[in-house]
Order: sequence, then structure tokens, then C-alpha cells
Amino acid sequence: MKQEGREMGGGKAGPVVVTGASGFVGSWLVMKLLQAGYTVRATVRNPSDVGKTKPLRELPGAKERLSIWRADLSEEGSFDEAISGCTGVFHVATPMDFDSKDPENEVIKPTVEGMLSIMRACKEAGTVKRVVFTSSAGTVNVEERQRPAYDHDNWTDLDFCRRVKMTGWMYFVSKSLAEKAAMEYAREKELHLISVIPTLVVGPFISAGMPPSMVTALALITGNEAHYSILKQVQLVHLDDLCDAMVYLFEHPDARGRYICSSHEDTIHGLARMLRQRFPEYGIPEKFAGIDDDIEPVHFSSKKLLDLGFRFRYSPEDMFDAAVRTCREKGLIPVGDRPAPAAGKTGDILVEEGQAIGAET
Ligand SMILES: NC(=O)c1ccc[n+]([C@@H]2O[C@H](COP(=O)([O-])OP(=O)(O)OC[C@H]3O[C@@H](n4cnc5c(N)ncnc54)[C@H](OP(=O)(O)O)[C@@H]3O)[C@@H](O)[C@H]2O)c1
Repeated sequence: MKQEGREMGGGKAGPVVVTGASGFVGSWLVMKLLQAGYTVRATVRNPSDVGKTKPLRELPGAKERLSIWRADLSEEGSFDEAISGCTGVFHVATPMDFDSKDPENEVIKPTVEGMLSIMRACKEAGTVKRVVFTSSAGTVNVEERQRPAYDHDNWTDLDFCRRVKMTGWMYFVSKSLAEKAAMEYAREKELHLISVIPTLVVGPFISAGMPPSMVTALALITGNEAHYSILKQVQLVHLDDLCDAMVYLFEHPDARGRYICSSHEDTIHGLARMLRQRFPEYGIPEKFAGIDDDIEPVHFSSKKLLDLGFRFRYSPEDMFDAAVRTCREKGLIPVGDRPAPAAGKTGDILVEEGQAIGAET
């Protein structure tokens, strides 16, 4: 008998949808879901873009259990077909054009209306047991003064974002409004919505091109000073830990509401120290104009996720070793004069034996 998924939230799981499946997070999540035995419907904006879909089609299990669907957040009803008959939706897609000339219409509107269109499709399908939304730390701590610690009850100050218009303001606004709209819709229509709130995601990747978060994470290596302010007091999570957490929350019968998913925090000074030690060939700076030497890290609490039984498996060294190695392999950053630490234990992905479940039994 054909088994389309595995146990989830007390019931048998059918196919699941991953939106934004060709992106940095989406493609890794598709890989993890296939490994876990799920049948996956991956949505992308342009299925004939071979460069973007090839990494998905080449995944183990893809031939038997992966299908690729066209869907766009800017088109009402675009996700209906892919979601019809599914038991779960991982909504990962989001517009990320920080340089948009028309942020209200090009970023905020498609993010919020696309989210609601997906929620309506889930309600209409009648088969969707859970929606997992990939939120962002940008919905939590963007405000005039940083507090020492944040948790899932905190929300970004949208008036502050709209007033100051800092880099990425439209992204913070779009994610916050989309999440709030989805929570309200889920409450009204009795859909089960879980938000996962990752901080800066770092690690190896299979998507094509330089992922937006790598531009920030590797800014000390590439010398991209515009991103130093984001690294000033930074929180981090490994891509593999994030995707494990998303699947964990999807499957856990008691998962409810918002979950911060963040394993480490540091300041730009600590990060620079660690990177200088591991990658001396990149000439990573020691001083940063306008950033005090004695700033403290800001904590993002993943207590709710940990209390549910989830455990992080990767260190910051794992995250950066793997990210640098992948970027070098793909020719996205210079190799430097000396080789990076050997691809040994620390940077490798921990794939548990027997994790992949055959779906054709
Ligand atoms: N990476 C991080 O550090 C981080 C941290 C916190 C939260 N997140 C969240 O994680 C999610 C994935 O981010 P990422 O890092 O994987 O970024 P990414 O690599 O840029 O992926 C985003 C995906 O969204 C899709 N997309 C953009 N506009 C769309 C539209 N109008 N309709 C449909 N799809 C659209 C893109 O699809 P195409 O391939 O079709 O262009 C792309 O694959 C986002 O929701 C983001 O807010 C990421």
C-alpha cells in the first residue's frame, strides 16, 4: 500500500506543501521532508527555471515523492491547486526585495495578501491539519531600544519601522502584518497555525545563488560593511536545526502558536574573533566604526521550543564552517590564500541513520 507521509499531530499525514521551495530555507526543508518520508508538493514561481528547480529534482526520493507546482503570492488563488488534498502547508516563500522602489505594493501587499490567500486555500481544502509559517526575528525585536532579551510574546514596533525606514523595514512590516493576519484568520476559521521565528539562518545550502541571509552572515568575510549593523547584536540558528524544528513542530501534537527558533547569540566582536580564528585568510577586522567594544549580546529565548522537547544540534562554528565551505564550492566567495578548516565533523550535517522512511511500502 502506498504511504504518503507519516504520523502527524495524532493523524496520518498526506502530502505536504512547501512554498518558496527553491529558496535557501525552502529547498533544505524539502530535502528534510523527503528524508523523513513525506510526499512533497514544492511551489516555485517559475517551474521551468531549471537552475532553481534542478537542486530539488536531484534530491534523494524526489523522483518518487516530489512534485513541483507554479504559484505566486501576488496572484489570488495561486496556491489553491497545490494545497488541495494536502494535510500540511509549510509557508516559506516571501518577497525580499529590500531595494524595492514601491515597497507597499511589491513587498508588503503580496506578503500579507499571499499569506491570506494561502490560509483561504487551506480552509477550502478541508484536509489541512496544520499550517507552519516561517516568520522572522524581524517581527519580534525591531524597536527604538534593544532589550536584553526577547521571547515569542514580543512584537516589532511597526510605527518605528515606518518612521525610521531602516534597511529592510518593509520586510519587517510585511512579515509582522502577514503573521498577525494569519493568526486572526486561523482563530476565526479554526485552522491550526504554528509560527516558527528563526533568527539569522546560517549553514550549508543546496539552493542556487547567494542566499540573502548569507550576504549578511558572511559580511565580515566579504567586507560588506552595510550589513555590520545587523551583526552588531546577532542571533543565529543552523539551517538544519531550523528545518528539523519546523518538522518537529508540524508533527508534535501539543505544538501551538509562536516559537522562537534560535540557538546562539553573539556580538559582532565575538563573531569576528571566532571567524578570524577559523578563517585567518580573510583579514577580518577587529574594530568597527560606531560600534562600542563593550556591547552585550541580545538573547532570543527558544524556551518554548525546548520545553516541547526539541534540541539544537549545531554550534556557531558548525554553521560558519558549512556556510563558508558551500559558498566556496559554489564559487560565491573567494577561497582565500589558505584552505578553510577541513570538511570534518564540525561542519557536517548530522543525518541520523534510518531517518529516511520508505514511502512506497
Ligand atoms: N534566511 C534567514 O536568515 C531567515 C531568517 C528569518 C526568517 N526567514 C524566513 O524564511 C523564509 C525563507 O527565506 P530564505 O532565506 O529561504 O530566502 P530566499 O532564499 O530568498 O527564499 C525566498 C523564496 O520566496 C520566493 N518568493 C519571493 N517572492 C515570491 C512571490 N511573490 N510568490 C511566491 N514566491 C515568492 C522565492 O521564490 P522564487 O524561487 O520563485 O523566486 C524564494 O525561493 C522567509 O519567509 C523568511 O522571512 C529567513
